[in-house]
Amino acid sequence: MEHETCCPKRSPLAAWRRVEDAARDVFRRFGYQEIRTPIFEATELFVRGVGEGTDIVDKEMYTFEDKGGRSLTLRPEGTAGVVRACIEHNLLATSPIRKFYYTGPMYRYERPQAGRYREFWQTGIEAFGVAGPLMDAEVLVCAYEFLSALDINGLIVQLNSIGDSERPDYIRVLKAYVQPELERYCPKCQHRYETNPLRLLDCKVPSCRELVQGAPKTVEHLTSESMEHLVRVRRLLDRAKVPYILNPFIVRGLDYYTHTVFEVTAEGLGSQDAILAGGRYDRLMEVVGGKPSPGVGFAAGIDRLVMAIQAQEPAATGSFGIDVYIARIGDAPPEPAYDLAIALRRAGIAVEMDYEGRSLRAQMKSANALGVSHTLLLGEDEIARESVTVRQMDTGAQETLPLTDVVAYLAGRANRPPLG
Ligand code: HAM
Repeated sequence: MEHETCCPKRSPLAAWRRVEDAARDVFRRFGYQEIRTPIFEATELFVRGVGEGTDIVDKEMYTFEDKGGRSLTLRPEGTAGVVRACIEHNLLATSPIRKFYYTGPMYRYERPQAGRYREFWQTGIEAFGVAGPLMDAEVLVCAYEFLSALDINGLIVQLNSIGDSERPDYIRVLKAYVQPELERYCPKCQHRYETNPLRLLDCKVPSCRELVQGAPKTVEHLTSESMEHLVRVRRLLDRAKVPYILNPFIVRGLDYYTHTVFEVTAEGLGSQDAILAGGRYDRLMEVVGGKPSPGVGFAAGIDRLVMAIQAQEPAATGSFGIDVYIARIGDAPPEPAYDLAIALRRAGIAVEMDYEGRSLRAQMKSANALGVSHTLLLGEDEIARESVTVRQMDTGAQETLPLTDVVAYLAGRANRPPLG
């Protein structure tokens, strides 16, 4: 049997590790330090931070009461928790670091489908203390570098500005546009009209999309300062050669955004094609009870990135990171295999062996499935002669070596998976 054809398909975990490794590497280069925040927080944090009237707060939170009668919520996103941690530990005043990255599970009670889960993972960054467009652009460049490092196909960076102080005026104009035909919008949009009108712009229902197509856009109602901010972000993206499109229908589902908002989509993911999203949130720190400090960041959906990587590399072979398999022939006792496995592992070689005295055929099947570079065969003959038969899995070539030489022989030849 050909070695390559029986290797397992790339495991989702291998793609997952690649995502996490790329995140750590790229975020570090952009000056971010890791932060780990709790998985549950006081419900109030999300109600205030993400905002009442948003889908997340209205119907997607996993909220429960603990034994002390406190209302707690499994975090639906990472930004509010990072902001809370900064306030509680006075991080922005006491630490030279104002840029944080995180990776972890998030929880939303959404209708599950391919690419949309109730428990999903995000990796993201949050940069505090800089109100100017330099940081919006740098965050976007960081997102682009991260996704480029993963070779995701068909990336589209979509940018918009939803302004800040001018938003109430814009909302009035938008509602005035929608009102005459409100009954023709979907029930969700009719509800949004009251609770979160900006989201009328990003409804996915085709008839609503058509209705809202001609609506006034946020960018047409920006103050001159907000417009200048957007223009400078765009220039900075051009300087860094980050391709993007302007999409006036990107408004985001969370309340905390001001000015710059963005989403990145990828090819081949169906309806759940947003792999990364974020924006600026200059008032969140204050809303959550801290000293005012501007912020900007993004989060990428790891599950979706893994899907994109796997869709692109369906035939890629993977390895479980095991270099060598030790097979026992016939009735050979297990102890020599046990001793050899430990000696090889102590020499830095990753080894798996047979523990149950299975048939040689079954053992070779395991060795193939694990994708090892070498299998060591130990039969009664080999044991009697203090030797071992080494089979090179890609060519099938076999040679018999003295047991004392095998560690040195394999040290230079076996698969060396990257440490990490
Ligand atoms: P978000 O758009 O809600 O933003 O989520 C960011 C990304 O998480 C989405 O683009 C998507 O890839 C992934 N995602 C969201 N929900 C699910 C789900 N149910 N299943 C699988 N993946 C999902 C935020 O969460 C903001 N905190 C981003 C941010 C950071 N803004 C500023 N800083």
